[in-house]
Amino acid sequence: MDQFQNPGDRAYTQRSGTDFLSCAFSKKSVRSNHKDRMNLNNQALTLLPTLPGRLEWQLVNQGESGDIVYRRSDGQAFAKIASPPRAAALESEFLRCEWLSAWQIGSPEVLDWVKSDLGGCLITTGVPGIPADELSADSLMTAWPSIATKFRQLHQIPVSKCPFERKLSSVFDLATDVVGRNAVNIDFLDPADQNTSFDQLLDALKTEVPLRTRQETQDLVVCHGDACMPNIMVDPVTLQCTGIIDLGRLGVADRYTDLALLLGNTRETWLNDQQESQAFELLFKTLGISNPDRERLAFYLRLDPLTWG
Ligand SMILES: Nc1ncnc2c1ncn2[C@@H]1O[C@H](COP(=O)(O)OP(=O)(O)OP(=O)(O)O)[C@@H](O)[C@H]1O
Ligand SMILES: [Mg+2]
Repeated sequence: MDQFQNPGDRAYTQRSGTDFLSCAFSKKSVRSNHKDRMNLNNQALTLLPTLPGRLEWQLVNQGESGDIVYRRSDGQAFAKIASPPRAAALESEFLRCEWLSAWQIGSPEVLDWVKSDLGGCLITTGVPGIPADELSADSLMTAWPSIATKFRQLHQIPVSKCPFERKLSSVFDLATDVVGRNAVNIDFLDPADQNTSFDQLLDALKTEVPLRTRQETQDLVVCHGDACMPNIMVDPVTLQCTGIIDLGRLGVADRYTDLALLLGNTRETWLNDQQESQAFELLFKTLGISNPDRERLAFYLRLDPLTWG
């Protein structure tokens, strides 16, 4: 359970309306319905604050989550807009942003949080740089040590200080729910898994849960939870990691949660096996793990796609 209390003395706008926390949401339905997106865009216009002078909000894209992201034209702020069914998830991101920014590892600071019956709007500072998925393989390799160091810093935050949990039991429950609703996005699955039923994929993972749960108790850290390259920012000139964004899944978890996504998400970027091994070794060396567990990596990499939907 999250124990975070809303920050008392900061002036966040909390308009009353729908009980957002009780809303179930389906990322798939938000994404697949063009009309919903148009409606959400209209809502966004009302939730986005008016900007002074020549500043304007520029649409970045609609991310995988179904939320809509805007960049302020000076790059100093970003706004994420969620429709009412997604507002609870965005509120979770707001709380995590607020908490992590105090640790000064380069994550966004919250500038404003608004919720109303139109949805939610989270405004944060812009983390400088470009998302790491926009880098070439060679540039990513140059940036890789600083990315590994960034995750070491994150994982070194004392878990006792983190009010957010994302333990395997709850993530597996989430996957069970997504699979039960037949809401898995097949595009997120490894091509080798795309012809297997979602139930079979989940059952195969289930046999490992007791072992993974025992391992988890020995290796809990503050994890990003969605450590894919679009959520990692890099200075395009110095090729140094500047920070991490998109913190909705941050919480105390097995550190292999992050390692699996960092490695899995870059697998197709590397130009050859040698680069892939280099990145693998550097990551584990930076994190001080002497005996990488490939089966544990594979477990978390297979579980992740079953948790979106
Ligand atoms: N605070 C920020 N600083 C810099 N860039 C940002 C920031 N917030 C968002 N962006 C940019 O917008 C993109 C989408 O933002 P974000 O990842 O938070 O949204 P999302 O809807 O969760 O997307 P997805 O589900 O695809 O991860 C990022 O990849 C990044 O390019
Ligand atoms: Mg993202």
